[in-house]
Amino acid sequence: MNLAGKRILLIVAGGIAAFKVPELIRALRREGAAVRCVLTTGGAQFVTPLTLQALSENRVYSDIFSLTDESEMGHIQLSRGADLIVVAPATANLLARMAAGLADDLAATVLLATDKPVLVAPAMNVRMWQHAATATNMAILQARGVHVIGPDEGVMACNEYGPGRMSEPPAIVEAIRAMLTDVPGPLAGRHVLVTSGPTHEPIDPVRYLANRSSGRQGHAIAAALAALGARVSLVSGPVSLPDPAGVAVQRVETAIEMLAACQAALPADAAVFAAAVADWRVAQAAGQKLKKQPGTPAPKLALVANPDILATLAAPGPQRPHLVVGFAAETHDMLAHAKAKRQRKNADWIVANDVSPATGIMGGAENEVHLITAAGIEDWPRMAKDEVARRLAARIAGALPVK
Ligand code: CTP
Repeated sequence: MNLAGKRILLIVAGGIAAFKVPELIRALRREGAAVRCVLTTGGAQFVTPLTLQALSENRVYSDIFSLTDESEMGHIQLSRGADLIVVAPATANLLARMAAGLADDLAATVLLATDKPVLVAPAMNVRMWQHAATATNMAILQARGVHVIGPDEGVMACNEYGPGRMSEPPAIVEAIRAMLTDVPGPLAGRHVLVTSGPTHEPIDPVRYLANRSSGRQGHAIAAALAALGARVSLVSGPVSLPDPAGVAVQRVETAIEMLAACQAALPADAAVFAAAVADWRVAQAAGQKLKKQPGTPAPKLALVANPDILATLAAPGPQRPHLVVGFAAETHDMLAHAKAKRQRKNADWIVANDVSPATGIMGGAENEVHLITAAGIEDWPRMAKDEVARRLAARIAGALPVK
């Protein structure tokens, strides 16, 4: 009961993600928190006051001009009686009203009148999230100290795809725990090394060999481990992703640089090798740009094998992390190849996935993985890469020996 005695004022605005609110309230109550809800007019289109009241076992407040509400618990009192205000889902509209300092309904008034910490869990269509107006509003709110969780990436109710889905309730609870308690996460005091992204292997100063890895899965794992309290060293190839919060990031280009950065980051309690390292590099990268010579054949690239970072760091020795997790990206005979990879590279676990183009996994927001351990194979359902990351981080926390 990490949140025993904590009082959460939960503001529910009008988004389809409000369907996740009952699960959030249940999870908070399981952790021992008391929950009181404010429901906006829009929110009430998606979830009923009765549901929120039954789950929170508290009156639900909606109307700023209600005499009953004001006499029972005025809007100032609502925020005074809370340790934290959580806005979930936080719609583009409510975030804009918060940024502008409006007080045109009970939710906005409470948010303007409060001096308590505020956590928002945005949820909206991807274009609304990416609109310059929302980006500016978020920057204003964050500069004022508002905490933000999510949004996650994935397929949305409107059938579009990208960032905009409200974070899952367990992640919101984890963010609340981090804000409200000194209770250390299950990975506090642990150091975990994570590799992510592709590597770029130069052909000449302007050209390189690479692959389609986006780094999303590796970055999400780094973030999920940090959220559980780990000190995370993320060694990343070139990606266009922001650095995950609270993670030490070392950017590299080539496999050789990635190996050196990983070795420099040791010792670690656990290591997760999610990078799609190029298996080969050009034997002799040209010092100058290769030029076309009319009438002469195309240059032939001689390739040499790159070091295998996972196999090198998983080899027995005093520096070997206690738990070594590799990935196996396969397009055929996935499980057989992945099992063989676990043994060949001396990994403890392999997270196997099918990256055939039809799956949309490479570069996409979702993943369907199989966890291969000494004990056997677990098939995980298809889910957001963030969710795969959270589950894997929780499993890692459970697998490390008690200190
Ligand atoms: N890996 C690594 N260094 C390499 C190649 C791979 O650390 N030079 C790691 C990856 O990060 C991943 C695992 O090894 O955790 C498996 O990667 P994958 O590309 O699936 O396997 P390969 O070793 O490249 O084998 P193959 O090309 O035969 O599938």
